[in-house]
Amino acid sequence: MRFTSALVTLAALATAVHAGGFADSCKDYTVDSNGYLKATCAVPNASGKKTEIDLNNCLGNASGHLQCQGNGQALRSCERCFLGGGKASSTPPPPAQMQCTCGNGSGGQLVSWIDLNVCVTNDHGNLRCP
Ligand SMILES: *[C@@H]1O[C@H](CO)[C@@H](O)[C@H](O)[C@H]1NC(C)=O
Ligand SMILES: *[C@@H]1O[C@H](CO)[C@@H](O)[C@H](O)[C@H]1NC(C)=O
Ligand SMILES: *[C@@H]1O[C@H](CO)[C@@H](O)[C@H](O)[C@H]1NC(C)=O
Repeated sequence: MRFTSALVTLAALATAVHAGGFADSCKDYTVDSNGYLKATCAVPNASGKKTEIDLNNCLGNASGHLQCQGNGQALRSCERCFLGGGKASSTPPPPAQMQCTCGNGSGGQLVSWIDLNVCVTNDHGNLRCP
């Protein structure tokens, strides 16, 4: 009986690591000037792993607004991206909120924010997005 509940707990933990936003199980995350999200992420039953993902695989630019989008290639039309930013979508801002300046497709530029935790997950130590 005790053995069974231990197995159930392990399975639940593995699911949580897979399903949650990466920020719940990763630390020391940064976004570099090439648009790579880098982090040290928890791996079930092992020590943390340094990993990274090209945010072009995760984000798109919809008329100047960042959105979660598989292979959206947002960094081709957005620049000056960094974690944090002057305007928060909530108070306090989500820890993995990123700000960029994005072209709107008609010659204008918009400052845009997105919570990367909504788009990126930690899959057993590998960052993944839709
Ligand atoms: C990983 O888990 C298995 C059981 O699922 C256990 O036998 C093994 O010792 C664990 N390894 C580490 C490094 O904790
Ligand atoms: C931003 O996305 C829009 C599509 O929503 C696109 O038309 C536009 O070209 C993009 N911005 C730039 C500067 O490419
Ligand atoms: C893009 O920005 C320009 C300049 O601010 C503005 O005139 C235009 O209406 C914007 N286009 C869209 C689609 O938001």
